[in-house]
Amino acid sequence: MTSSISAHRGPLFHMLADPAEVGEEASYQYWEDGLLVVADGKIIAAGAYSDLLSTLPDGAVIENHPDSLIVPGFIDTHIHYPQTEMIGAFGKQLLEWLNTYTFPTERDFQDPQHARRVARVFLDELLKNGTTTALVFGTVHPESVDMFFEEALERNLRMICGKVMMDRNAPDYLCDTAESSYQDSKALLEKWHGKGRLLYAVTPRFAPTSTPEQLAAAGRLRQEHPDAYMHTHLSENLAECAWVKELFPQCANYLDVYDHYGLLGKRAVLAHGIHLCEDEWKRLHSSDSALAFCPTSNLFLGSGLFALEEAERHKVKVGLGTDVGGGTSFSLLQTLNEAYKVMQLRGQALTPFKSFYLATLGGARALELDHCLGGFTAGKEADFVVLDKRATPLLQLRMENCRSLAEQLFAFSILGDDRAIRATYAAGRCVHKK
Ligand code: GUN
Ligand code: ZN
Repeated sequence: MTSSISAHRGPLFHMLADPAEVGEEASYQYWEDGLLVVADGKIIAAGAYSDLLSTLPDGAVIENHPDSLIVPGFIDTHIHYPQTEMIGAFGKQLLEWLNTYTFPTERDFQDPQHARRVARVFLDELLKNGTTTALVFGTVHPESVDMFFEEALERNLRMICGKVMMDRNAPDYLCDTAESSYQDSKALLEKWHGKGRLLYAVTPRFAPTSTPEQLAAAGRLRQEHPDAYMHTHLSENLAECAWVKELFPQCANYLDVYDHYGLLGKRAVLAHGIHLCEDEWKRLHSSDSALAFCPTSNLFLGSGLFALEEAERHKVKVGLGTDVGGGTSFSLLQTLNEAYKVMQLRGQALTPFKSFYLATLGGARALELDHCLGGFTAGKEADFVVLDKRATPLLQLRMENCRSLAEQLFAFSILGDDRAIRATYAAGRCVHKK
């Protein structure tokens, strides 16, 4: 048994709680000369090298990571793998962007070979950016989800994905029906949910592209499998919000559409939530649903500025999302850079500790996976990232000028991108090395 133990030595940092709830001091742990001990894909211990060295069995291999910061793997709570190839498409807001770029691109995923090829590039890109878990949209085609999960299974990653359910207001070539979407989603869920580290998300695209019958079918599936996820979009763009009001005049607000069909609750993750009223904030909290904050997308598509301070005030769980291809980067460090600027424009401060909370433990909590992800507590899964303080001459110079851990974290979040990821580990195994 002892032969499977490995250890990683270097500066070690993880979050224990939301700094907004417990204060900064109590929210994290940091060891300047730390040791992370791993066995069979799980964390055995994290602490000071000097304290833990004597606990290692003879022959345990220690990997040294000088000039680094070892942090938990990043968690992306909203991303579309089929949109990888159309990232950064010019010049449109949400509804026009969907019709012009997104739907035609998603059409190609009826071909499993195309889906597999894109899934491989997508997963490589995630790992290169230090993202070890993501909540992922497929397309309407069941094959798109099969290909994604096959590739994620081979890499032993903790990934969540689902087939898009969409039966109106989209091109015919991308539409299913209420019944076929229920049957296809159910079959995929039964095939993949809990296989390896994979989990399934019931995925109605957003209220405008589902009939009431389809939303009811999604609700039925969720009721039959309460341990699966529900993943959709909410109140991203003002034209979208006005359209939802027209389509569902009987509902009190946008969130109420999903509520009406039993789609909220634990493991429900709704992307964006920019234009919300007080009742919606209260209902997000009381239903224990989570939001994905996607700043690069919200700025790129001109959607608006997410009110993180309102989420804190209403105790609504929030994770970070890249929302590629509406979002413009796979990097959660770059996503934090944009999140900081969104908060600046709102007259708020996003502290470095809150930033790293959102990218790690906060994301794990939004996904109800904090028992196994998001930190270095013994027993959690050994998904972690080695950040490189010398990634570029500029970053090295900036790091040398930092006077505290907080300043280092902030520099990583503003200047860092895939170049700052020296290595990524999933279940204890190195899955990316620069
Ligand atoms: N709303 C419905 N579909 C989408 C999508 O693909 N991307 C984004 N950002 N918003 C959406
Ligand atoms: Zn999205």
